[in-house]
Amino acid sequence: MSQQVSINKDNIVDFIQGLFERRGDDWYMGEPVTMAQHMLQSAYFAEKAGADDELVVSALLHDIGHYTSEFPEDCLQNGVDNDHENAGADFLAPYFSARVIDPIRMHVATKRYLCATNPSYYKVLSDASKQSLEVQGGPMDEAEVAEFEQEPNYKDAVRVRHWDEAGKDPELNVPSLDHYVPKIRQLVEQHSRESS
Ligand SMILES: [Fe+2]
Repeated sequence: MSQQVSINKDNIVDFIQGLFERRGDDWYMGEPVTMAQHMLQSAYFAEKAGADDELVVSALLHDIGHYTSEFPEDCLQNGVDNDHENAGADFLAPYFSARVIDPIRMHVATKRYLCATNPSYYKVLSDASKQSLEVQGGPMDEAEVAEFEQEPNYKDAVRVRHWDEAGKDPELNVPSLDHYVPKIRQLVEQHSRESS
């Protein structure tokens, strides 16, 4: 059931926190971790790799599009679609920079890209991820690879995708969402200043 509140730059961070509280314990489809574990571990690996805040938050929020049932109806009416990568990117786009949003929007395409260009990558995919690859169109062909490499933030998308893949360890304890909230707030404020 969609919430009947409107999201804006002043409540988006609270909304994200609420989402983690309400739905974080959902199992991540086909993986041995919950959604919160998966997203927090992805952010943890980004931070560990020395990524800047935009990429850490991108990794943290990359799968938020799995929660479209939690998005307010006005967001859905505004064209948020059913593919989880586009749903998440469209939902967050008013509040974050392109470096946060592009790796989210591209994270499924990036898997297809890496399977085409990096032979060892396919081997590290989980079984669930290998299965969904087929539904998502399989590895990119040459023309798709060339087009993908025209995207300005495609290298960042590749980095986020590797952290996404790493964030599926049921034994790994990582910082909670609270650790990232100041970064998220700061990015929302920065984007609001720059886009006004
Ligand atoms: Fe993911």
